[in-house]
Amino acid sequence: MASSSGNEDGNKESGAWRLAGPVSELSQKPCRLMYSPLGHQADVCLFHVKGEFFAMDARCSHSGGPLCDGDIEEANGVLQVFCPWHDYDFNLRTGKSGTGLQQEVYEVKIQEDCVYVKHATPLSLQPFPAVKKS
Ligand code: FES
Repeated sequence: MASSSGNEDGNKESGAWRLAGPVSELSQKPCRLMYSPLGHQADVCLFHVKGEFFAMDARCSHSGGPLCDGDIEEANGVLQVFCPWHDYDFNLRTGKSGTGLQQEVYEVKIQEDCVYVKHATPLSLQPFPAVKKS
């Protein structure tokens, strides 16, 4: 069962519920990169591990490594992703690392067979077109 929130009205400071996609599609892989129109720094990793979804910033808070390419492991019942660049660990549920760093994590809910992530911007499996400066 996915984690969920008691607060479902969205549009708070922490963001609004953003449709990520159907559970049937997003549960096919352990991690999907969700693009934000704000670019790289706002992209999100949507993990699917042991039947549960987790969302966290896609860029490692150490030096920006791509966490979607990290190894996912369970130790003592704690699910973690290890950054592929310097192997720092991040708890999928809390975003905490044993190094003391904190990765931003986001609430996830399942509604009518779709996955929603509470985030400040829309999220998409496809990159957003670059915004032209006029
Ligand atoms: S960039 Fe992720 S551990 Fe260094």
